[in-house]
Amino acid sequence: MNTRDAATNRTFPFSWAPQYGTLTLRDWLAHLAKTGRVATIDKPVALEHELAAIAKRLDGAQAAFFTKPGRHVVPVVSGFMSKRAWIAEAMGIEESDLLAHFRSAAEKPVASKLLDRADAACQQVVHTNGIDLHALLPIPTHSEHDNGPYITAGLVIARNPRTGVQNVSINRIQVHGPDRMAILLLPRHLYAFQKAAEEAGDALDVAVAIGVDPLTMLASQAITPIDHDELEIAGALHGAPLPVAKCVTNDVHVPAFAEIVIEGRILPNVREPEGPFGEFPKYYSAKEAREVIEVTAVTHRSDPIFHTIVPAEMEHLLLGAIPREATLLAHLQRSHPGVKDVHLSVGGVCRYHLWVQFDKKREGEAKNVVLCAFGAHYDIKQVVVVDTDVDVHDPAEIEWAIATRFQADRDLVVIEGAQGSPLDPSTTVGQPEDAPPHLQGVSAKMGLDATRPAVYPAHVFTRVHIPGQDTVDLDALVAADNHAFDAYLSRHHD
Ligand SMILES: Cc1cc2nc3c(=O)[nH]c(=O)nc-3n(C[C@H](O)[C@H](O)[C@H](O)COP(=O)(O)O)c2cc1C
Repeated sequence: MNTRDAATNRTFPFSWAPQYGTLTLRDWLAHLAKTGRVATIDKPVALEHELAAIAKRLDGAQAAFFTKPGRHVVPVVSGFMSKRAWIAEAMGIEESDLLAHFRSAAEKPVASKLLDRADAACQQVVHTNGIDLHALLPIPTHSEHDNGPYITAGLVIARNPRTGVQNVSINRIQVHGPDRMAILLLPRHLYAFQKAAEEAGDALDVAVAIGVDPLTMLASQAITPIDHDELEIAGALHGAPLPVAKCVTNDVHVPAFAEIVIEGRILPNVREPEGPFGEFPKYYSAKEAREVIEVTAVTHRSDPIFHTIVPAEMEHLLLGAIPREATLLAHLQRSHPGVKDVHLSVGGVCRYHLWVQFDKKREGEAKNVVLCAFGAHYDIKQVVVVDTDVDVHDPAEIEWAIATRFQADRDLVVIEGAQGSPLDPSTTVGQPEDAPPHLQGVSAKMGLDATRPAVYPAHVFTRVHIPGQDTVDLDALVAADNHAFDAYLSRHHD
């Protein structure tokens, strides 16, 4: 049953909204289960590959809930936010409002609310001695050539050593010892914090929160300037302050209703091998020396649920896509108010290929939009700009626009040697295997202006349309059965 929250005037499909103000993973799973979107796997399932194989098959159709993963009593869940429509549903909005809603949350963060330890569900059970992550948690090995078990759905939370402000990101974490993990830090905020701590000879305190609701997951992926705590964006998405708890062994604040929290320190000047690991572009990243987390505590609910994301499947791809699209749309509209909508295509792994819907008024403008998009995020490798009559969420429409409005000698933009995604395997061609980080990820960019001329002869560029095609009432016109058709055939069969 829907409920309306008077404070935010939003409609939620759950009973939790007025009562708690913030959605938990359990609330969301209960809602999915009630609507037939949870597949319970009650048979024993191996943590190595089998669990991920099942979750991958179900991704986008149902969340997978494993009650007997490996030898563990802690269940594993995967794929509970693998559709845009589900994410919109968790927000209590229409799917078409996703980007605007995320953007306004990012612009109006809501400060978190610190709970007493006694009220923090994530600290109902505390382990600080003799920690063995493999014994405590059902951590799966996902893809064929992965170098062992990985935590793929942990929110990594740390404070800027210079300002004390928190940051949240998701990072792949290889568990390679009972209380030791290697983490991939691409050059963004957590990386900057670690470098600052390391330069001062210090470890960086961190917490890895596993098992949070879809809105907090999504907020972790907001593209913000440094010193914006993404938990406050989560608060804005929830329409209420996010309840947080202080960690047991450091000063990091974590979502109080997380299922599991791993506390630790990224050690200065320590690197250990991590990878290979099957990543979002659907290829493996190589084994490399990475930063190391030494675990200081594991806390969890009395009956925790472990969340794993199957790499490169829809849950992973959409988590990156929606916050990026919201940021890219805002960035493009700042300089080009004619930009109406954007879409990161699934075929472009929701990172590399951007489709832009644009109300073009003058020749050349679409190329400016292309250049603006390349500057907005280094991952963007290909941009297609289309007119407002083209649906940017439909791959067939984009291909049609390219087929009928684009000429390569006139409408193509190619930029050589720019920075791209280091995880795109085509950027490694011609590079030595051990290329240092500053030489990795060099990529060409391609832009396609698939718009019509600003002024065009109607008989050439008018799209074929049949009056009534969108409005005819088929329910009223089409017969419920084929009696009339059968009768016609029997009368006229010879
Ligand atoms: C499932 C998943 C796994 C990710 N793994 C990594 C990773 O291993 N390393 C990394 O730097 N970013 C990774 N990311 C992307 C970051 O979490 C994301 O860019 C985040 O916004 C960075 O935050 P920051 O800009 O505040 O540092 C991952 C994202 C998702 C959704």
